[in-house]
Amino acid sequence: MVLSATELTNLPQLLPPRGMELVACGSCLPQSVVSNALLSSRVDTNDDWIRDRTGIGSRRIASEADSLTSLASDAAQAALDLAGWRAEDLDLILLATSSPDDLFGTAPRIQAVLGADRAVAFDLTAACSGFLFALITAAQFIRGGSMDKVLVIGADLLSRWVDWDDRRTCVLFGDGAGAVALQACPAEQDGLVAFRMRSDGQRNSCLTLARSGARLPLVGDLSREVGGFGTIAMNGQEVYKFAVREVPLVLADLLEQAGLGAEQLDWLLLHQANQRILDAVADRFAVPRERVLTNLAAYGNTSAATIPLMLDEAVRDGRIRPGHLIASSGFGAGLSWGGALLRWSGPPP
Ligand code: COA
Repeated sequence: MVLSATELTNLPQLLPPRGMELVACGSCLPQSVVSNALLSSRVDTNDDWIRDRTGIGSRRIASEADSLTSLASDAAQAALDLAGWRAEDLDLILLATSSPDDLFGTAPRIQAVLGADRAVAFDLTAACSGFLFALITAAQFIRGGSMDKVLVIGADLLSRWVDWDDRRTCVLFGDGAGAVALQACPAEQDGLVAFRMRSDGQRNSCLTLARSGARLPLVGDLSREVGGFGTIAMNGQEVYKFAVREVPLVLADLLEQAGLGAEQLDWLLLHQANQRILDAVADRFAVPRERVLTNLAAYGNTSAATIPLMLDEAVRDGRIRPGHLIASSGFGAGLSWGGALLRWSGPPP
């Protein structure tokens, strides 16, 4: 069939509108557990201080045998298994990470491990907002009609980039990986009910992992920069104020977009950075504590992995069920933040 110029222009309107549904998830954590007590043997801190200020009790730290590729691939395989998909069916693997195994991109390595030969695979970097940004990005490919089956992975090994002698930051972070499987569906079943993404580079210095910048002579008068990065630097109080201000605003915006009230939410699934931030946001919307998902005590802040890790835990233990409405928000370095109202579909029966 040959389409006329007018038909081609109107093609998006001619195609049936599509949505994306969230059908499966998976996660993977390193085995090694570092409790607050154990960490206190390295830096001047203690269990009471860390629990009071953050809600964190322990974190998982990657061992020599782990890599971003291995943890992310295991999380992705678990999502594929739950969905009942073959890796060859995938159109896209989108990896949100700030701690890649390869700065040129780690997603293609995961593609190779899974055997997803038909998929295109690439990385997306937006720190702790990365998973939500990747999910929203993937949804555009699906809604636009160019892709049907996608894996979105959030994975980070921030233990690589933490200054383990800086007690103000090292107590916060841990390693982990989570993944979700998304597929095309009719528009009326769209699982991405509303979304918003924001960034503010003016406040970039609040939370950075900057290049280290050492220079070596090259030729003649020229020198060149040696590749490398420093460690995580954070103004904790500014980041805290940013989160408790912006996350409620973005969630209020989403609820307004969707014409819903907070009482209609089944779950609040926020980036797991600090229990006090989760509590402040929940109080702002009067969401009861039993509907606020948290696993901070066990894993700390795993950056791009926190949301899919928490989602996977709550799906597998039966708390999140098909049809549930989830308000999610990611926030962190950039500064960047965003939110999504998600409807969980679950795996096909
Ligand atoms: N153990 C014991 N004492 C500590 C400590 C630790 N791990 N870290 C800091 N302190 C001390 C400080 O030195 C300071 O002591 P001083 O008053 O004698 O100088 C005191 O505790 C208070 O420090 P402060 O930095 O003001 O604490 P805070 O109440 O702001 O809590 C954070 C610090 C990091 C927990 C809090 O700011 C926070 O959670 N911010 C958001 C961080 C975040 O979520 N980042 C990731 C975003 S994706």
